[in-house]
Amino acid sequence: MTIFQQNVQLQPYNTFGLEAKASEFAVFQSVEQLKAALNQRVDQPLLILGGGSNILLTQDFDGLVLKNELTGYQVLKEDNSHVWVEVAAGENWHQFVLTAIENNWAGIENMSLIPGTMGAAPMQNIGAYGVEIKQVFERLSALEINSGEIHQFSNQECQFGYRESIFKKEAKGKFIITSVVLKLNKQPEYNVSYGAIQQTLEEMEVSDLSIKAVSDAVIRIRQSKLPDPVEIGNSGSFFKNPEIDKIDYEGLKAEFSSIPGYELPDKRVKVPAAWLIEQAGWKGKTFDKIGVHKKQPLVLVNYGGGRGADIRDLAFKIQDSVSDKFGIILTPEVNII
Ligand code: FAD
Ligand code: EPU
Repeated sequence: MTIFQQNVQLQPYNTFGLEAKASEFAVFQSVEQLKAALNQRVDQPLLILGGGSNILLTQDFDGLVLKNELTGYQVLKEDNSHVWVEVAAGENWHQFVLTAIENNWAGIENMSLIPGTMGAAPMQNIGAYGVEIKQVFERLSALEINSGEIHQFSNQECQFGYRESIFKKEAKGKFIITSVVLKLNKQPEYNVSYGAIQQTLEEMEVSDLSIKAVSDAVIRIRQSKLPDPVEIGNSGSFFKNPEIDKIDYEGLKAEFSSIPGYELPDKRVKVPAAWLIEQAGWKGKTFDKIGVHKKQPLVLVNYGGGRGADIRDLAFKIQDSVSDKFGIILTPEVNII
C-alpha cells in the first residue's frame, strides 16, 4: 500500500522554483511500487515527475504526482567496440554521464550538465553541442498506464526528432518510462566541431583530447552561458529553435541581413530563437519577479517568488511579438502544466 501525501508543495521539485501544490503525491523506488500506486489511484489526473527541469507549473495540480526515484544501472553486454548499459529512469542524467566518463564509455560527454533524469531524456530527445540521445539510444522500457504492462520501444519506434519523440505525440500521457538502454562507444568518436568547444579546449590548454576533456569544456561553456537553477529558477531553453523553409529564410534575410540560420538537409533552415527574441527587444527584460535572462534570451527566469502563470503569459507575449516581427511562431519546449 503506497502512502499518498496530501497537499504537497512542489517548489523543491521544479527547477523554476515555482510554488504549486499537488493534491496527492508519492515517490516510487521500484516498478512494483509504481504499479501499486497506479492501482490505488482513482480517476485523478497524473503527473510523472523526474527532476522537474522541463516543466512550468502554472497552478496547483489537482491530481496525483508520482516522483520517479528508480535508481541503478547494469551492463547488459559488451564487445570490443561497444557496451550496452541499462539505466533506471530515475537516475540523474549528469551523474550517469560522469559514470560513463569514468568507465571510458563515450558518446554522451557532449551532453554533460543537462539537468534531469534518464527517463525524461528520451521524452524530448535531449541534445546539446552537436549530439542527441538518439545517437546512442538502443531501447527503453515503459509501463503502459492503462494496462499496467511493460512495453519496449526501439530507437525507431521512439520516432525521435529535434526535441521530439512519440512520447510527446501519440503516446503522450500513456506511458511511464522505467529504464533506458544506451549503446556507448569504447573507442571515442570526438564531436568537437559544434559551437565553442574547440576554442574552449584551447583555452583550457588541452593537448590530449579525451571524453573527460570534452565534458569539462562543455561544462565550462554551459556555466558561462546558462543560469544555474540553484541560483535563478529556470527550465533551460523555453522555446525550440524554429525550423523554417529555406525560401522563407531567404525572404527574412533580405529584410534582416544579420539573421543567423543553420541549413538542415531538407531545404529547411534552423533559426536561433534567442536571436529572434533579442531582436524583438526582450533580452534582459525584468517584470517584477520574473524575466528574460540577460545573457541568454531563450531562457525565461524566476528570480524568486514569481508565478508560473505570469511566466506563461510572458511567453505568450514573446510569441506574439516574434510572430508580428518575423512571421515565425515559436513553439515552447517546456511542458506547461
Ligand atoms: P521533468 O521536468 O521532470 O519532466 C519533463 C516531462 O517529461 C514532463 O511532462 C514529465 O511528466 C515527463 N516525464 C518525466 N519523466 C518521465 C518518465 N519516466 N516517464 C514518462 N514521462 C516522464 N534539455 C536539452 O535537451 N538540452 C539541454 O542542453 C538542456 N539544458 C538545460 C539547462 C537547464 C539549466 C535546464 C533547467 C534545463 C535544460 N534542459 C535541456 C531541459 C531538461 O533538462 C531536459 O528536458 C530533461 O530531460 C528533463 O528531465 P526531468 O527529469 O527534469 O524532466
Ligand atoms: N543568440 C543571440 N543572442 C543571445 C544568445 C544567443 O542572438 O543573447 C543566438 C546566436 O546567434 C547564437 C545562437 O543564438 O549563435 C545559439 O545560441 P546558443 O549556442 O546559446 O544555443 P541555443 O540555440 O540558444 C541550443 C539548445 C540548448 C543547448 C544548446 C547547445 C534548443 C532550444 N536549445 O540553445 O538546449 O544546450 O543549443 O547545444 O535547441 C534546452 O533545450 O533546454 C537547452 C538549453
